[in-house]
Amino acid sequence: MSTILALAPMAGITDQVFRRLCFEWGCSAATTEMVSAQGFLTAPRDRNAYRFLLERLPEEGDLSVQLFGSDPLYFARAAAELEALGRYTGIDINMGCPAQKVVGGQSGSALMKDPALAGKIVESVKKAVSLPVTVKMRLGWDDAHKNAVSFARLLEQSGADGLTVHGRTRMQQYSGKADWPAIGEVKAAVKIPVVANGDVTDGSSALECLRVTGCDGLAVGRGALGRPWVFGEIRAALEGRPWEAPPFSLAVDTALRQAREMAAWKGEKSALLEMRKHFSWYTFGRRGAARVRTEINRAASFAEVEALLRALCDDSGGKKAETGENIP
Ligand SMILES: Cc1cc2nc3c(=O)[nH]c(=O)nc-3n(C[C@H](O)[C@H](O)[C@H](O)COP(=O)(O)O)c2cc1C
Repeated sequence: MSTILALAPMAGITDQVFRRLCFEWGCSAATTEMVSAQGFLTAPRDRNAYRFLLERLPEEGDLSVQLFGSDPLYFARAAAELEALGRYTGIDINMGCPAQKVVGGQSGSALMKDPALAGKIVESVKKAVSLPVTVKMRLGWDDAHKNAVSFARLLEQSGADGLTVHGRTRMQQYSGKADWPAIGEVKAAVKIPVVANGDVTDGSSALECLRVTGCDGLAVGRGALGRPWVFGEIRAALEGRPWEAPPFSLAVDTALRQAREMAAWKGEKSALLEMRKHFSWYTFGRRGAARVRTEINRAASFAEVEALLRALCDDSGGKKAETGENIP
């Protein structure tokens, strides 16, 4: 089986436009932003928030839809309805989100504190759909409760077809370093495919993470922000090919393309707001970028943004940072 090279789901970021860019650069699988199972079932069907979360482009590759919640019945009904849309190649269940508003509802990583419920959720989704069902999880709730190995075994017994393991606990949120050896313990404990996640930002960290964890693949999140070509870099490393970091002009072209596609999809006003963070990631490390970002945040049209970015491109002084430091 070839190495899975996935874009990790990131709410507010990994929409269809950004995902397509990542697929073009060699990502082999992606997941939608997380969607509330209950919210999806109860919201009016034409509500834009859900429409945007659930749409996909035909050019995208394998795409799982990710659900969060805590009620096995809502999960099953939402998964069945989403499968019926015929858009997705899998259903992914969020058991890793650390956000208070999610864990407060016993969802996301809070499910790692209730393995019996987590197992029931997987069983009930498995019964409801024929698509593969995967789970995204962490190492446990906190240092004193690192139950990833027994939790993964239980999910496997409950019917999960694959796991993505983020090598941190809930209490760590995104701090500290991802514990790759601990992900390796999960991989060794189950027979289903395990994808390693956390702190893979370039070709060398990808190779090292695969070596340490022995996993079937990698999921890259923050390392892809403002650099969808990280998947090209990792592919090159996996295949032993040399890789040359793209010039800053490509970052600008890609940012502008993403902005245009987002504007065609959601309208220029929304796109301008949503693209601010992406512009900041695309220009990270470029000399003069901080000033330009402030101006971009005041810009009223993409024409203005384009002029600002092109000027930054012409300024030959700076060099684009090509490491994974551009993390929120
Ligand atoms: C802004 C942001 C949003 C995220 N949203 C989700 C989400 O919707 N579902 C999910 O399973 N994980 C989510 N994550 C976690 C990432 O998928 C990933 O597990 C984490 O960022 C660690 O991987 P990385 O070091 O490659 O970024 C999010 C992370 C960030 C930074």
